[in-house]
Order: sequence, then C-alpha cells, then structure tokens
Amino acid sequence: MRIEDWLGKASIFAGLGRQELEELAALASLKTFAQKETIFLEDDPGDALYILRTGAVKIFRVSADGREQILAVLHPGELFGEMAVLQGATRSAAAQALVESTVLVFPQAEFRRFLAQQPQGALQCIAVLCSRLRRANRSLELLLWGNVRQRLYAALGEMADKEDEIELTHQDLGALVGSSRETITRILLELQAFGCVTAGRGWLQITDWDKVREVLLGEEFEN
Ligand code: CMP
Repeated sequence: MRIEDWLGKASIFAGLGRQELEELAALASLKTFAQKETIFLEDDPGDALYILRTGAVKIFRVSADGREQILAVLHPGELFGEMAVLQGATRSAAAQALVESTVLVFPQAEFRRFLAQQPQGALQCIAVLCSRLRRANRSLELLLWGNVRQRLYAALGEMADKEDEIELTHQDLGALVGSSRETITRILLELQAFGCVTAGRGWLQITDWDKVREVLLGEEFEN
C-alpha cells in the first residue's frame, strides 16, 4: 500500500484530502526496528514524530531505583513522539519495539510546519493527546483506589480491543499495572486454570472475557 493511502487510514489524518496526504507522505521516511530495539530514550532530543505502521511499541520510564514503568503499548496507526516535537522539549519517556516494527518518521520542523498549515491535522493531534490524558486519569484512579486485579483487567481489556494476541511478558504486564512479575504469573495461572486465557512464552490470548471479568473482579462484578 502506498504511504499516502495508509496515512489516510491512520485516525490522526482522517479527514485530510488526497493532496494533503501526498504532501505528508513526502515528509516521511520508513524505518524498521528489530524486536527489543530502542527507538529513543527518555531525555533524547525530540527530533521527529513517529507513526507505527506494523508491530508494537512500548512507551516506558525507568524510576530512580531502576524499576520500569510501562505507560502504554502502542499498535499500528498510533502516533508517538509528539510531546517533545510539539513542546520543543526532550523525550518524556523511552520507546522500544516489542516485536519487529516499522514506523513512519516525520522530522520535527517539517511536521510542525505541516500542522501550522493544516488545522484539521492539528486538531486530530490534540484529540490524541486528550484521549491519552483521559486514559492516564483512569490509570491514576485505579492506582490510587483500585487493586492489581482491577488494573490487570483494565490493561488486558484495553489491549485486547486492539490486538487478538497480547505480546507481553509477565514482567512487562507487571511494569504496566504496577505489580511484580510473580503476582502477574500467579493471577495468569489462575485465569488459565479457569480456562479463560491461553498463554505461551511472551504472549497471551483471552478466550472468555466474561469469565476473566468474573475471576478478576469477583463479587464487585456480581453486584
Ligand atoms: P515524547 O515525549 O516526544 O516521547 C515519548 C512519547 O511517549 C511521548 O512523546 C508520547 O508520544 C508517548 N507517551 C508519553 N506518555 C504517554 C502515555 N501516558 N500514554 C501514551 N503515550 C505516551
């Protein structure tokens, strides 16, 4: 598929005409990252904006004591790297390919120029930021008032909406929901014993959502 055709399907560029999509495609270069390859690190300069074309990317930060916190797992069509590009600041978090991934890379200056000329593109970009803030607010609420099973349920639900197979290790899932690998392993074994999840090394698939909800949310769900 030509880059401009594909860009037209990415939600941030929905609504742009053929000519704008062609102009945009001319700015982009395609880059492939191997599994586990770093795309950028926290505090790197914000020299480009990325749109994920294939694969999966994790966005994460590392705490002072070396613990990883996964902020998001991104799927094809999603953009990242916009915060540093729009703010003229350094990267707020690191990005790493979870599996082999291809990305479209837009140099900072050209992308900013494009947004200045295309209010529709700028509005879509703001909409992406708004939905991320909403999601961050929900995560904060679960972190403050919820428990690990509720956070795992929310994280699995969000990822299963985008991909059939969730390609994360137990360690990654722990870093995503603020828990230890051991706790995640214990809960996933429980879900497997109930027959509602199948799993292998570094992946899992939900086969019965109602059961997962019942096991993870228990009485709260029944009320
Ligand atoms: P930037 O700061 O340039 O580099 C890191 C990127 O990770 C950031 O832009 C966003 O694109 C992305 N990012 C940061 N925090 C979140 C979050 N909470 N949810 C989703 N994506 C995020």
